Amino acid sequence: MCGIVGYVGPRRAQPILIDCLKRLEYRGYDSAGIAVVGKSLQLFKSEGEISVLEGKMPEMEGSLGIAHTRWATQGKPTTENAHPFADCSNMLAIVHNGIISNFMDLRDALKADGHVFSSETDTEVFAHLVESELEGDLLGAVQRAVAKVEGTYAFAVVAQGGDEIVATRRESPLVIGLGNGENFVASDVTALLKHTNRMLYIEDGEVVRVTKDSVRILDSSGKDVRREPQKVAWNIEDAEKGGYPHFMLKEIYEQPSAIHDSLLGRVESLDTEPFFSDSTFSNVKIVACGTSYHAGLVGKYIIEELAKIPTTVQISSEYRYSSVSRESPLMVLVTQSGETLDTMAAAREARKRGNKTVAIANVMGSAITREVDHVIYTRAGPEIGVAATKTFVTQLVALYLLAMDLGAQNRTLSALARRAIIGQLRSLPRAVQDVLNKAQEIEALAKKYHGARDMFFIGRNVNYPVALEGALKTKEISYIHGEGYPAGELKHGPLALISKDSPVVAIAIKDHTYDKMLGNISEVSARGSPVIAIGFEGDTELAKFADDVIYIREIPPLFSPVPVIVALQLFSYYLARERGCPIDKPRNIAKTVTVD
Ligand code: F6R
Repeated sequence: MCGIVGYVGPRRAQPILIDCLKRLEYRGYDSAGIAVVGKSLQLFKSEGEISVLEGKMPEMEGSLGIAHTRWATQGKPTTENAHPFADCSNMLAIVHNGIISNFMDLRDALKADGHVFSSETDTEVFAHLVESELEGDLLGAVQRAVAKVEGTYAFAVVAQGGDEIVATRRESPLVIGLGNGENFVASDVTALLKHTNRMLYIEDGEVVRVTKDSVRILDSSGKDVRREPQKVAWNIEDAEKGGYPHFMLKEIYEQPSAIHDSLLGRVESLDTEPFFSDSTFSNVKIVACGTSYHAGLVGKYIIEELAKIPTTVQISSEYRYSSVSRESPLMVLVTQSGETLDTMAAAREARKRGNKTVAIANVMGSAITREVDHVIYTRAGPEIGVAATKTFVTQLVALYLLAMDLGAQNRTLSALARRAIIGQLRSLPRAVQDVLNKAQEIEALAKKYHGARDMFFIGRNVNYPVALEGALKTKEISYIHGEGYPAGELKHGPLALISKDSPVVAIAIKDHTYDKMLGNISEVSARGSPVIAIGFEGDTELAKFADDVIYIREIPPLFSPVPVIVALQLFSYYLARERGCPIDKPRNIAKTVTVD
């Protein structure tokens, strides 16, 4: 997830582009860059936030340009890897949001044709691809180039000597802002609201040519498209959250595309490069904190089922002070920020103890990525809300991929089984979208239960850690005291606390523990506790046991944590909203914990 802006008109482009770009900083902030067409193509980029670029860049003359703020997904967040990218002869510049999944093949072919590359990114291939197609107009070159690209993208391109921005998209947002005698391009309306509220939304596969006084949209077959502009009623602050009242809600809704992006290029074929081609492992240890620890606990079930490798999970701060030496050949460190001090220290300790280490991280180039042997990046994009949501779900995706990889190495997973898993992973965005479509129902439940002081969350097997995560989300943002338990543990103590004032959220999907869960629900109902169950669609039996049921689409139980947690995220979000809590910045906690 990155931010793109473009300007063409009578005014100096540079200050407008920087101002617009700053409004997109929430989409990515590890590096930024700008290109302005003047007497020559002026291009400047820098590592760090937009303010760093602003402080360093020279004055640029010209009234046509593009700019970019980056959230690295391919290639580290360095100046070289920042956008825009130029072609070999410095005649054109491009910016990109998305992931080019076939970039390696394209790069090899372009290199063989003599193109010289300056970065590790997937994006740079597009600059060279357009250059290689540049006979005649820029619009035609972009059309021909984009036909060779696989993956997701929004591109904007300018060329020296031109008077236009050519842009195109597939599964990444792109909007044209219409001004008077000037026009704008952006990855979302937030960037442009200061200048215009008249927008043209570009559809997948369309290519658009924007000059200061014209916009021409062509569909994928090259036919002209007529489209009426839309008036946006947002104010600037609303728009930074994409119209959502809180970043947390926005990030919950981004989960279908975050899952999709996290799979992109990794499951297209069964022959994708394995994470560990050189080793097999007799056991695995996962180490993490907080929500990432809960992802690790789900990961244990996934790895044990798919790869049949015994897996243990430990909290980072406990692992780092434990005394066992070289206990697990493979250590998996899960951390969305990549900066959590205890997890960093655990990584160092693990290497000292001679283990192979792999990090699952969301922030490219973050501290942990320099401490481990291998990194699996989640591609959730920046998460601004303190409560982890989309990073948790993409950590689960990374753990499915890792388990599949280990299973293939261990020969516990046949090609047929892997194909079936890939099918399940690909269906997850749809399963999550189904839950999001039930937001109003979940909101109504939160209105009913928001007065509770205590809440219990119970689950079994792979959904036991999901119960823990549901409880953590609830306590963290709504300040309701939420406790998660493996349902079988209730009778060993917690039942003493169950009463009519403590609602119980029970995850009761149809798996081999279903009957036991119904028994646990009866136990708590008998003590007067209201029960909110989460079950599979069509399970009418469950409704007889619970006061309320949130139904999710039936999927194989091993994959159910993904839609189940989305239902619990929404529930905790609406509980917090009903209670008037500061959802994006809960008291006493920070997004990145760099102290121990
Ligand atoms: C809760 C939450 C925290 C983090 C924990 C670890 O919503 O976000 O519990 O999961 O602080 O952070 P990372 O994953 O950055 O290591």
